[in-house]
Amino acid sequence: MWVVGIWMDPGIIEKIVGEMDDYSPDMGEIDGVPILQDTCNEWDEIYNFQAREDDILVASYPKSGTTWMQEIMDLVSLEGDVQKSMRAPCFVKVPFLELGKTSLQYAKVMPCPRMLKVHLPVQLVPPSFWDKKTKIIYVARNPKDCMVSYYHFQKMDNTMPDPGPWNEYFSSFLNGNVPWGNWFDHVIGWWKAKDQHKILYVFYEDMIEDPLREIKKVMTFMGKDLSEEVLQSIKHQTSFKIMKENPVVNYSNLSSVMDPAVSSFMRKGKVGDWKDHFLVSQNELFDAEYEKRMAGNGLRFRMKL
Ligand code: A3P
Repeated sequence: MWVVGIWMDPGIIEKIVGEMDDYSPDMGEIDGVPILQDTCNEWDEIYNFQAREDDILVASYPKSGTTWMQEIMDLVSLEGDVQKSMRAPCFVKVPFLELGKTSLQYAKVMPCPRMLKVHLPVQLVPPSFWDKKTKIIYVARNPKDCMVSYYHFQKMDNTMPDPGPWNEYFSSFLNGNVPWGNWFDHVIGWWKAKDQHKILYVFYEDMIEDPLREIKKVMTFMGKDLSEEVLQSIKHQTSFKIMKENPVVNYSNLSSVMDPAVSSFMRKGKVGDWKDHFLVSQNELFDAEYEKRMAGNGLRFRMKL
């Protein structure tokens, strides 16, 4: 199925998938942040990961549009070459440092320039990324849609803790008792860091509203200059409809881990889906917490377009 690039270890997909099959949904903690136990077991190696100046890192709270951004970054770096973008699934093209031993080892040896992914809150990012002044693209999504997407994801991904019923999950998310911790801490931490480091802070809602505008921002940040025609083709190739059918990004090759019968990875891809899940009382509770936590930090999310 894959158009194997010269650099790709052909066994890498099987190794990563095989390792994930053995994962448990147990939770651990790093410096007070809830993190999957399998990630905690590799923590020293993750934290000591050696970044390079020419790496590009995508960082996000889970379910914020990371995969979408990964595919945009890949196509921008390939100057729109769709054929080459089909060389491997997204978790090989852009290794996820917290995914496990194989992914981490692969990230260390893959040819440069590398694209890498983390879901870590800013204070847990391996320090070498700051030392090397690596470019980082942070993707943020409004918390209500993020919560709904995460709920469905935790149900379908058997390496994740079972989310329980929606009403319970609502409290777990609000209290930060989910893998990678509290949404507010995450987005605010990265927002504050963006003025001191090379961080492009991108909003999922902006990507939905005007994908071309946001792809251009990514292009400029990555130091590329692409024609309007190439940009249009990247926009098309990274649209929800095309990505949903694309095995490189729809995680269909991880069906032993992510059960498509429960939920599709490319589920809805909308802004405002939370309205079909939140009770009126939950919405009021959430809004009150949102106002309290976001007061005075200059960061604002759009819950609808
Ligand atoms: P939904 O579950 O709301 O559909 P991540 O990659 O960080 O895990 O984020 C996954 C979310 O991004 C899912 O949200 C998924 O559908 C959405 N997504 C992925 N690609 C997208 C695209 N091209 N357009 C819009 N949404 C996209």
